[in-house]
Amino acid sequence: MYGMASLSGGIFYHYLGVRYASKLWRPTRDFISARLRDFAISKKILLVGPSAGYLLDTKILKLASQVSCVDIDPLSPLLIRWRHGRYIKCHTQDVFSLDRQKLNIHATESFLKTHPDSKIVFCNILGQLPFLYPLTWKNSVALDLWKKEFHQLLYNKNIFSFHDRLTLTGPRPLFQDLINIKYPLSNEDLIARVENLKGEVVIDHETKDIIVGSNCSYTLWSMTPTEHHILECTSKT
Ligand SMILES: C[S@@+](CC[C@H](N)C(=O)[O-])C[C@H]1O[C@@H](n2cnc3c(N)ncnc32)[C@H](O)[C@@H]1O
Repeated sequence: MYGMASLSGGIFYHYLGVRYASKLWRPTRDFISARLRDFAISKKILLVGPSAGYLLDTKILKLASQVSCVDIDPLSPLLIRWRHGRYIKCHTQDVFSLDRQKLNIHATESFLKTHPDSKIVFCNILGQLPFLYPLTWKNSVALDLWKKEFHQLLYNKNIFSFHDRLTLTGPRPLFQDLINIKYPLSNEDLIARVENLKGEVVIDHETKDIIVGSNCSYTLWSMTPTEHHILECTSKT
C-alpha cells in the first residue's frame, strides 16, 4: 500500500482533488489542456503519475487513439477510469526505482519498453522526485548520472510534461501566464514575474533542466487557497 501514502500523491492528494479540482484547479486544467491537445491528438499516449487525472481533461484524453497510464497509487486505476473512462489501460507500479531508495533508470527504461510506440506524458511527477528520492538528490554524482541517463532514455521519444518549478505560500499573488517560450526560464526570471507576493517562495522543485524541451509555458496553479505552484509545461516532439 506504499503508493497510498506517497508524499507526492495518495490519500491527501485525493482529498485535495475532491475538494479543489472542479473549481480552484480548473484554470490550470484548461491551461494544460490547451498545450496537450495537439500533442495527444490521434496518438497513443502513456500518462506517468496521473493519480485520478484531476489536472487532465476527459475531452482531451478522448482525442488520443489510446490512453494508458502508470501510477504507484493503487487507487489511481479505479479513480482515473471513473473520472475519465473505462477504456483507459492502467498499470500500478513504481517506474522510478527498484528499491525505493534511489532513482534507477532501469525501472523507467524497462517500463517504457512495454509502450514503445506511445507518446509519454509526465503528469506533475517530475517535480516530486527530489522529495521522493532525497538520497539521490543529496548525492550530486548519483543525480548527475541519473539525469544524463534519463535524458538519453528520452532522447528519441515524444514527451510532454507538466511539473512544478517553485512553490509559493500566502494569498494568491499575480502571475501572467507565459506561453511558447523557447528555453526554460530561470528561477530568478520566474520569481521576477510574480507580483504582489505576500508570502514566500518556499520550494525549488529543481526541475529547470529535467526535460530538455523545445517549448515551455508557465502558469500559476493554486493547489490550495494558500499554496501556489509555478507550473511549467514543456514538450519535445
Ligand atoms: C502530484 S501527483 C500527480 C497529480 C496528477 N497529475 C493530477 O492530474 O492531479 C503525483 C503522482 O505520482 C505518483 N507517483 C509517485 N511516485 C511514483 C513512482 N515512483 N512511480 C509511479 N507513480 C508515482 C503518485 O502516486 C501521484 O499520483
